[in-house]
Amino acid sequence: MKTIKDLAIKDKNILVRVDYNVPIKNGKIESDLRIRASLPTIEYLLEHGAKKIILISHLGRPEGKPDKSLSLSIATTALKKLLPKVKIDFCPLPSNNAKLDIPKDAQVILLENLRFDPGEEANDKKFIENIIKATDADIYVQDGFAVIHRAHASTDAVKHFLPVYAGLLLEKEIINLETATKNPKKPVLLIIGGAKVDDKQPLIDKFSKIADQIVVGGKIAADGYKSKDSKIFVAEDFDEDTEGHKLDVGPVSTAKLAGFITDARTIIWNGLLGYAEDPAYATASTITAELIGEHQDATTIICGGDTTGFVETLIETHPHLKYSLVSTGGGATLEYLVGKKLPGLEAISK
Ligand code: 3PG
Repeated sequence: MKTIKDLAIKDKNILVRVDYNVPIKNGKIESDLRIRASLPTIEYLLEHGAKKIILISHLGRPEGKPDKSLSLSIATTALKKLLPKVKIDFCPLPSNNAKLDIPKDAQVILLENLRFDPGEEANDKKFIENIIKATDADIYVQDGFAVIHRAHASTDAVKHFLPVYAGLLLEKEIINLETATKNPKKPVLLIIGGAKVDDKQPLIDKFSKIADQIVVGGKIAADGYKSKDSKIFVAEDFDEDTEGHKLDVGPVSTAKLAGFITDARTIIWNGLLGYAEDPAYATASTITAELIGEHQDATTIICGGDTTGFVETLIETHPHLKYSLVSTGGGATLEYLVGKKLPGLEAISK
């Protein structure tokens, strides 16, 4: 995979696909993980003399129509705070086929939500070609790891017009996920939680060949998940509310999980173990996050939006916790881990 480290960057206009599809609540960004994760690539390109960096992304699912509540101007504000010394500007998408009006003197420009135009999800070559022409882009960098499972104009059709290189975030994600699936240090432990068994079963199936131990908690376990596979341990005791709802993995199963974590040399955790939005039912998830984050002899991967959000919040008050990878991908990480072909990855020059 060719990365930006293989590139002559000086005086080039570089189109960078980021994934700024960040969670927003009451007009505020709830987690800026994906924006912070894009900084190493932006800083690298600036340090190596890029003339202009044009960031492109989607936000939410506006279905081809402008929607003020999903404007990426909110991400521009966040990016300016993270890079106060860089001249950053925002550029709206034009209406009625007018030309993109690119701000002239900015070093970094973030374009409006690509999904405001139906051409993005339709993987329309013309749509991305117009952006490339208007921005004078010489090179395309794919750094939006979380969107590489989509064949859209900005992740796939773009390869017909520009040389495609991987950014530093994409490289980091792939190196860690590849190590965990293709050449893991053993024993390998997969911890599964969350609510949707259909989403997680392919991961369990895939890791039944790779992992030495699989632990299932969360609502999936509370709902009675069963497996005949001897390497799968399903949580057996739960903390319950007064009405008998099983809302967290209980102390006996958590202690067993703790032992597996200590023994493991590769740990992948996807899905919270209880209803952790309520601190009363966040105990198993907190213990798990702490034990994994203190385990410096293992490759440790945290994935899934709820789990990464939980861990990121915990790190704020427990900065000693360290993980090999807090993955920015949701669906992309799951699809990579189960071995699917990802269009955004296929597009990168070999
Ligand atoms: C994600 O959050 O998983 C990515 O940004 C992709 O978003 P999508 O599922 O709307 O394509």
